[in-house]
Amino acid sequence: MGKSDVDVRPAAAAEAVAKHEPPPSPATSPATPAGTTDERLHEVDVVVDRAAEAARAFRLLDQQQVDAIVAAMARAGIRAAAELATLAIEETGFGVFEDKVVKNYVATEFLSDYLRDKRSVGVIEEDVERNIVRVAEPIGVLLAITPVTNPTSTVLYKAIVAAKTRNAIIFRPSPYAIRSCERSVAVLREAAEAVGMPLGALQVVPDAAHDVTHYLFKHPGVDFIWVTGGPKIVALANAAGKPGLSVGPGNAPTYIHHTADIPGAVVDILISKTFDASVICPAEQTCIVDDEVYDEVQDEFLRMGAHLLTGEQVGQLVQFAFGDGDKVNMAALGQPAAELAARSGFSVPPLTKILLAPLPADLEQLASHPLLQEKLMPVLGLVRSPDVPHAVQVAVLVTEHGGLGHTSAVYARDAAVVDLFAASVRTGRILVNAPTAVGALGGVYNNLTPTFSLGCGTWGGSVTTENVNYEQLLNIKTVSHRRTPSQWFRVPSNTFFNAGALDNLRDLDCEVAVVVTDAANEARGVTDMVRSKLRTSHVHVFSEVVPEPDEETIRRGVAMLEKTQPDLLVAVGGGSVLDAAKAMRLFFEHPDRRLEDLTVPFLDPRKRMADFPREPHTVRLVAVPTTSGTGSEVSPAAVVTVGERKETLVDYCLVPDVAIVDPLLTLSMPESVTLDSGIDALTHALEAVVSIFASPYTDAFCVQAARLIFDALPRVLDDPADLAARTDMANAATLAGLAFSNAFVGTNHALAHAVGARFHIAHGRANGVFLPLVLRYNAELPTKFMPAPGYSAYIAPQKYAQLGRVVFGGSDPAESRRRLFEGVEALLDRLGMPRSLQELGVDEQEFEQALPTLAMTAFQDLSNRTNPRMPLLKEIVELLRTGFVGGRVDAH
Ligand SMILES: NC(=O)c1ccc[n+]([C@@H]2O[C@H](COP(=O)([O-])OP(=O)(O)OC[C@H]3O[C@@H](n4cnc5c(N)ncnc54)[C@H](O)[C@@H]3O)[C@@H](O)[C@H]2O)c1
Ligand SMILES: [Fe+2]
Repeated sequence: MGKSDVDVRPAAAAEAVAKHEPPPSPATSPATPAGTTDERLHEVDVVVDRAAEAARAFRLLDQQQVDAIVAAMARAGIRAAAELATLAIEETGFGVFEDKVVKNYVATEFLSDYLRDKRSVGVIEEDVERNIVRVAEPIGVLLAITPVTNPTSTVLYKAIVAAKTRNAIIFRPSPYAIRSCERSVAVLREAAEAVGMPLGALQVVPDAAHDVTHYLFKHPGVDFIWVTGGPKIVALANAAGKPGLSVGPGNAPTYIHHTADIPGAVVDILISKTFDASVICPAEQTCIVDDEVYDEVQDEFLRMGAHLLTGEQVGQLVQFAFGDGDKVNMAALGQPAAELAARSGFSVPPLTKILLAPLPADLEQLASHPLLQEKLMPVLGLVRSPDVPHAVQVAVLVTEHGGLGHTSAVYARDAAVVDLFAASVRTGRILVNAPTAVGALGGVYNNLTPTFSLGCGTWGGSVTTENVNYEQLLNIKTVSHRRTPSQWFRVPSNTFFNAGALDNLRDLDCEVAVVVTDAANEARGVTDMVRSKLRTSHVHVFSEVVPEPDEETIRRGVAMLEKTQPDLLVAVGGGSVLDAAKAMRLFFEHPDRRLEDLTVPFLDPRKRMADFPREPHTVRLVAVPTTSGTGSEVSPAAVVTVGERKETLVDYCLVPDVAIVDPLLTLSMPESVTLDSGIDALTHALEAVVSIFASPYTDAFCVQAARLIFDALPRVLDDPADLAARTDMANAATLAGLAFSNAFVGTNHALAHAVGARFHIAHGRANGVFLPLVLRYNAELPTKFMPAPGYSAYIAPQKYAQLGRVVFGGSDPAESRRRLFEGVEALLDRLGMPRSLQELGVDEQEFEQALPTLAMTAFQDLSNRTNPRMPLLKEIVELLRTGFVGGRVDAH
C-alpha cells in the first residue's frame, strides 16, 4: 500500500510492462505480449473465463445467500488471523506480528460488522418521497492488485467486499507476498464455497511476470481493475483503459498545535508509527510541532521511548534506506527501530520505539530533504514551526511529496486551527486528535468506513477520496419513477363583489391609510369616496401613478409610504394602479430587495432564483379595480416598466389581502378601455384553460369567466350603463384573474407584450389581434411538445372543446371547438376590435425591421413557459407576420 510497493516491485513491473506494450486488441483474448509463452497466457485466459462464469452464477444469488457467504469468509479469516500474520512476516521479512493480527481483524471482523445490515443485492434503497429506487448489480470480474505492506489483510478485505457485491475476483499479489495471498484466498475459498459461493469466484494468478499483469489489465474478460499500490502501478492501471479504482501511496503529515493534549498526542503517534513497524500507507511521516511546545513534545517522545537521531545518524539512515537513487532499500522496510539503526550502522537501545529525525523548518531546505518522503519504517520527521500558517504550509508540502489525496492529521483543541488545517490540506482523510495508521482504516478511532483501500481522489489518481467499500464495487441502477409535483390554488383571503362592495372598506381596522390611485381616478372623485368609507381620519393619497408605471413612480410611492408609515394601502384604479401599489408595498416592507434581482427569468417557478420575502406583511393591501380586465386585484403579478422594457414581478407575496370588485366603479370606463380590458380578461381565460399548469380548479374559473364575457361584453358595448352587464364583466375579469394567477397565461400574452411595448398598443387590444391565431396554433398538432410532468397527453384541443361546449354547446368535441373559435371571431367583430397590426396603424417597413427583435422578445417572454406547446422561434415569427396582416380562424 505504500510507495515502497512501487519502488520495490510494481515500479519494476511498470518499467517491464512499459517496454512490452501490447497492441490493443478487441478480440476475446488480448494480443500476446512478447516474452510470455502462449501456454501461460492460455492458463490466464482459463482463469478469467472461470471467473466470468462464476460472476454469472454469482449474479443469481440473493442477499441472504450472499450474506451467508460473507459471514463464512469473515469467520474463517478471523480464525486464521494469527496464522496469516505469521506467514506474512515469514514471507515478506518485515512488520510486527501482533499488528498484522490486528490488521487481519479489521479486514474481517470490523468489515463484516460494517457490512452486516447493508443491502448489496437487487433493490438496495427505496426513496418513496423522491420516487426513486436503487438497484444494485455486480460488476462482473474484478482484478485486484494487492501490496506487500498488507499482504493478507488487503486480500481478506477485497475478497469479502467482492463477495458482498457478487463479483468474481482475481488477485495479482505483490511478487514478494504470493504465498500470503494464496493462503488467504485458500482459507476464504474453502469457507465460502461450502456455503454456496460459485466456483471460480475467488482466484489467484500467482505468476510474477509483469507481462501477465499487463495482459490481465487489457483482458476483455476483466471488467474492473482494483489497485492498491504506488503511483506507477496506479498510473499503469489507469492507462489500461478500463473502469477501475486505484489507490496510491501516502505521506501523512501530523500537526501538533500548542493547544493539543501533548502526552495524548505523543502516545497516539507512537502507537501509530510503530503499528506494523510503519508498513502501512496512512502512517505519520512528518510531525509538525508549534515552537512554544516543541521541546515539551520532543521530551515527551523521548520519555516514552523514542530516540532523537543525531545529524550523523540521520545521514547514515538516509544512506542506508534511500541511498540507492529513488529506490527504497527493501531491507530498511518495517524493521524495529533498533534493528533499522543497526542495519544503518549505529546503535540505539533495544526497546527504542521510533527514531526521531529533526528536519529543517525552512520550506526550501525541507522540500529537498530525503526524509521528507514516505518512510515505511519507524522513522518520524520533526519540524519546528513558528506559527499556524507555517505549520499548514509544511503539511501541504509534505503531502505534495507523494501523499496528495491520502491522509493527514491535526492535534488541537482550537477548532479554528482544525478548520484551517482541514481547509488547506488536500487529503481524503483528515484525522482530528487521532493516530493516522490505525485511524484511517476506519472503525477503531472514528466512524470512518473500514477499508484497506483508501481513495486518494484525483490528486492521487483515484475517482474517489472515500474509504472504499462495497458501494464502489457495484453498478447501482437508479429506477426513477415519474414524479408529478403537487399543484396549488392560491387566492386572496377575501374577495367582495357586486355593486356596493366598496362599503366593505368600513369594516377594515386601520390607523393610517394610504390611497394609491392615478390622477384621472382622483379627478373623478374616487379618492373621496374611499376616504368617506375608511374608519380612520389619517388618510393620505398617492395619486401619481401613470399608465404602465415605471420604477421611478414606484420609488416615489415608497418614499411617501416611508414618510406616512401606513398600516393599510387601498389601491383604486386600473391594472396600472393596482400593480404600482403591489410593488410599493413590497419595497416599502423590504427596502433591501432589488427589482432586478426579483425579476430574474425562470424556467420553473418552483426552482427560480428570485428570492421574494416570506415574512408576513406589516401593511395590508386592499385592491379595488376600476377596470374589468387585468385581474390584478387577485393576481400575484405586478408589471413595472424599466426603461424600454416591461418587467414582471411574480410571487404570491404580491397578492392583495382583500379584493373589492365593485362594478359601480367601472361604469365610467370609456369604450376603448372597456373593450380592451374585456378582451384581456377573455384572453386570460382562454390561455389559462390550456396552460400546462391548468387544473380542475382553474378550469372552473376559466369556463365561467368565458361564459360571462361572451354574454356580457356585447351588452356593455350596447349600453355602458347596464349595471348587470358591468357586474358580469367585473366578476368575469376577477374569475379569469383567479385562474391565471394559478395556471398562468401563454404565447398569446408573449406576443401581445412584445408588440404592445414596441408599438404602444393597449395590452387588451394587442391580445385581441393574436387571440384567434393562438387558438388555432394551440389546437394544431405541435411541432414541439412542452416538457411538463403534470401535462402528459396533448389535451389543448380537448380543453378548447370542453370550454366551447359549456359556452356554445355542440354535439361533438370538434363541433364545440369550432363554435368556440367562431364565437371568438364573432365577438371581436361585433366589438369592432382591430384584427391586425396593420389595421392598428403599424407601418409595414417598420414592422419588418422590428420583426427579429420582436420575435426574440416574445420568445423569451415568461408567458411561453406555460403554453401547452413549445413555440419555436420561427413559429413566433410566423404568428407575428400573420398578426400583422390579420388572420382568420379555420373551423376545427
Ligand atoms: N398584475 C396583473 O396580473 C396584470 C395582468 C394584466 C395586465 N396588467 C397590467 O395592467 C396594466 C393595464 O391595466 P388596465 O387595462 O386596467 O389599464 P390602466 O390601469 O393602465 O388604465 C388605463 C386608463 O384607463 C383609466 N381608467 C381606469 N379605470 C377607469 C374608470 N373606471 N373610468 C375611467 N377611466 C378609467 C386609467 O386612468 C388609465 O388612464 C398594464 O400595465 C398591464 O401590464 C397586470
Ligand atoms: Fe393580460
